[in-house]
Amino acid sequence: MKTYTIAVLPGDGIGPEVMAEAEKVLAKIAGKYDLSFNFTPADVGGIAIDRHGKALPEDTVETCRKADAVLFGSVGGPKWETLPPEEQPERGALLPLRKIFGLFANLRPAIVFPQLKEASPLKAGIIGEGFDVMVVRELTGGIYFGQPKGNDGVKGFDTMVYTADEIERIGRLAFETARRRNSRLVSIDKANVLSTMVLWRQVITKLGAEYPDVSLSHMYVDNAAMQLVRNPRQFDVMLCGNMFGDILSDEASMITGSLGMLPSASLAEASEGELPFGLYEPSGGSAPDIAGQGIANPIAQILSAGMLLKYSLGLDKAYDDIYAAIEGVLDEGYRTADIMSPGMKQIGTGEMGDRIAGKI
Ligand code: NAD
Ligand code: IPM
Ligand code: MN
Repeated sequence: MKTYTIAVLPGDGIGPEVMAEAEKVLAKIAGKYDLSFNFTPADVGGIAIDRHGKALPEDTVETCRKADAVLFGSVGGPKWETLPPEEQPERGALLPLRKIFGLFANLRPAIVFPQLKEASPLKAGIIGEGFDVMVVRELTGGIYFGQPKGNDGVKGFDTMVYTADEIERIGRLAFETARRRNSRLVSIDKANVLSTMVLWRQVITKLGAEYPDVSLSHMYVDNAAMQLVRNPRQFDVMLCGNMFGDILSDEASMITGSLGMLPSASLAEASEGELPFGLYEPSGGSAPDIAGQGIANPIAQILSAGMLLKYSLGLDKAYDDIYAAIEGVLDEGYRTADIMSPGMKQIGTGEMGDRIAGKI
């Protein structure tokens, strides 16, 4: 029997609550495909600060290194917001993890399930027959990581830097992604103001010549934010730098009904003929406002587990099973609070996970 090791890092807030549901679903997948998942848990974020004095203990990094892929919950919360910024869960754990493992490509698929059209805040006419966009976000460069950065109480500064190589690397992945979808790529930038983004547009334009079958256009980020609510269906793949992708993916998620629906894959470069190492996590955060109440939507975490199976383990059919199971449960009218609409049956985190697992 094939065994895969999955590092499980639930983190803080709703992280552990939704992670438990993803594990239930993976256990069912293992049974169905005669596989075995060896889940190796590790502390990360606030809980790691509380237990080990730092947000990213070496043991946690080692656990990830030994695994075939990482399933991550979310980190952060009010309890740790008074610590020095570099020690907080986000900057002390999540960003270093992305850097250590070279997770340069962040895929965030925002899809309106037909059953959830009513949960979208946009009018039915705007959603039309559905919305399915893939945000491809560069994840290890840009203003998140550029040096210098600091805050001396009088001056706070961050530096936005991209090299042509970094832009080309994420650009290629976006073109390839578009090729496997509807062959439309919109590159998002702010080339009218930022030098980094002038280079971004130059590199992507040049790369476009290698992908004549993909229709490439460029859009300023402010316009893109507006176009996403005006006519979201114009987009197929949206390519963004680190910060713009962070912002636009939250916006895209809400079109699907809730941030609790948006999974993500953060991928490293793959060797020729191999699948990439990846960290898989919901795009949303630890949701302190609803943590501990058993009402969080586990679907983003479950879909993230599905993406792990597909992108790092090559188990495409298992991903399809998870997707279909979610659709099945939504078809039966079950909803967590965030995607609730009149006439539907409201259930909690655990029941949603049980019902999805039950359909595998
Ligand atoms: P958030 O994403 O945690 O929450 C924003 C809103 O979306 C909240 O109202 C929340 O209840 C809702 N929401 C998010 N996920 C949901 C789910 N699964 N089901 C139902 N509702 C859901 O963003 P925030 O409030 O700005 O940040 C809270 C903390 O999370 C901060 O410490 C932030 O830095 C951290 N954060 C972590 C990650 C991560 O670990 N990847 C991502 C984003 C934010
Ligand atoms: C995300 C989060 C992170 C980011 C934070 C928590 C560092 O918002 O994964 O979208 O900005 O990348
Ligand atoms: Mn974000």
